[in-house]
Amino acid sequence: QKRYSITLLPGDGIGPEVISVAKDVLKLTGSLEGIEFNFQEMPMGGSALDLVGVPLPDETLAAAKNSDAVLLGAIGGYKWDNNAKHLKPETGLLQIREGLKVFANLRPATVLPQLVEASTLKREVAEGVDVMVVRELTGGIYFGKPRGFRTDENGEEVGFNTEVYAAYEIDRIARVAFETARKRQGRLCSVDKANVLEASMLWRRRVTAIAEEYPDVELSHMYVDNAAMQLVRNPKQFDTIVTNNIFGDILSDEASMITGSIGMLPSASLGSSVLTKSRGPGLFEPIHGSAPDIAGQDKANPLATILSAAMLLKYGLEEEDAARRIENAVLDTLNKGLRTGDIYSTGTKLVGCKEMGEAVLRSVDSQVHAA
Ligand code: NAD
Ligand code: IPM
Ligand code: MN
Repeated sequence: QKRYSITLLPGDGIGPEVISVAKDVLKLTGSLEGIEFNFQEMPMGGSALDLVGVPLPDETLAAAKNSDAVLLGAIGGYKWDNNAKHLKPETGLLQIREGLKVFANLRPATVLPQLVEASTLKREVAEGVDVMVVRELTGGIYFGKPRGFRTDENGEEVGFNTEVYAAYEIDRIARVAFETARKRQGRLCSVDKANVLEASMLWRRRVTAIAEEYPDVELSHMYVDNAAMQLVRNPKQFDTIVTNNIFGDILSDEASMITGSIGMLPSASLGSSVLTKSRGPGLFEPIHGSAPDIAGQDKANPLATILSAAMLLKYGLEEEDAARRIENAVLDTLNKGLRTGDIYSTGTKLVGCKEMGEAVLRSVDSQVHAA
C-alpha cells in the first residue's frame, strides 16, 4: 500500500465546491489502485485573510512544502478586490508558487471529441486541437522589481512594474518545454515580444541556444500578438507553446475557450519535481478563478479540478495508472451526455457540480483496471 500526503487548498468562491469533488475522486481512485491519501486542508486566499489576516499563512506554506503534492481550488473575490497588495488573495497564490519554487506551469488545452459542440470555434477548426502551453510561473513582470506606486515630477500618481528575466530562468523553462515537446509531436513554438522588449530579446536568444541540446525538436518563434490571433485562426498549427508568465496567463485562458470552457482546463506547476528529476511537491490547480458570479450555486464545472488531480497523479506522484483511471472516467462521464452549464449544448443533460462529481465517481469505480 502506497501512501501520500496531499495538501488541499480549497480557497474561495467555487474553489471549495470543486475541491470537495476532486478529493472524493482522488480518494476512490486511490482505494481502487492501492494508494492511500492523507489529506490535509489548509486555509489560503480570501478565506485565510478572513481567518488569520494573511493570504498565505506560514502554516499553510509549511504544510504544502511537507506534503507530496498540493491541490488548489481557486482564490479571490469581490470582497478583497480593494485590499492593499500584500493583503490580496492573489498575492497568496504568487507566494505559494514562489515558496514551492514551481517555475514550470503546464496547461494542456485538448479539444475532446465529446465537446467539439461546446467550442465557440467551428467544428473543423476546433476538432483535434491538442496544445500544451508551458508557462513560466515564478518570474517576469509578476515578480520583477522595481514595482509599486509613486508620484512623478508633475505630482501625477504612477503605478509601475518590471518585466525581467535572468538567463537561468529562461534556460530552465526552455528545457522543460523542449522535454515536453519531445514527448509530444516534437514541435515547440516560443512566444515573445522580441520586437519591442529587452526581456523578450534575451528570451529568444536563450531559447534558440538551448535548442541545440534538442536537435529532434523543431523550434519556431512567434510574437505574442500574432500568437493570440493564430490560436483562434488555426489552433492545430500548435503542438507545444513556451512563453513567459504574463503571456502564458493570457494565452492559456484563450486556449481554454477552444476546448469549450475554462472549466475544463487543468494545470500542473512543477519546480523541484519530476520533470527536473529532483524532489519537492508540485502544485496542481485548474486555470480558472473563483468564479464569484456562480459561486455557491452548484453550477461550477469540476472537471478542470478533477483533471488537475489526474495531473497530480501523473506528474506529481508518477502514478500513471491512477491518473489514466481518472481521465477515462471523465471521458466516460462526457460520453454519457452529462454537462455543466459552461459546456452545455442541445441534446446533452444539464447537471450541477455535485451531480457531475457523482457521475465521475461512478465512472472511476466502473473502469476496468487500466491496461
Ligand atoms: P474566473 O476564471 O473566476 O471566471 C471567468 C468566467 O468563467 C466567469 O464567468 C466564471 O463563471 C466562468 N468560470 C470559471 N471557472 C468556471 C468553472 N469551473 N465552471 C463554470 N464556469 C467557470 O475569472 P475572473 O472572473 O476574472 O476572476 C474571478 C476571481 O478569481 C478574481 O478574484 C481573480 O483574481 C481570481 N482568479 C484566481 C485564479 C486562481 O485561483 N488560480 C485564477 C484566475 C482568477
Ligand atoms: C491564474 C490566475 C493568476 C495568475 C492570478 C489569480 C494571480 O490568473 O492562475 O491563471 O495570473 O497567474
Ligand atoms: Mn489566469
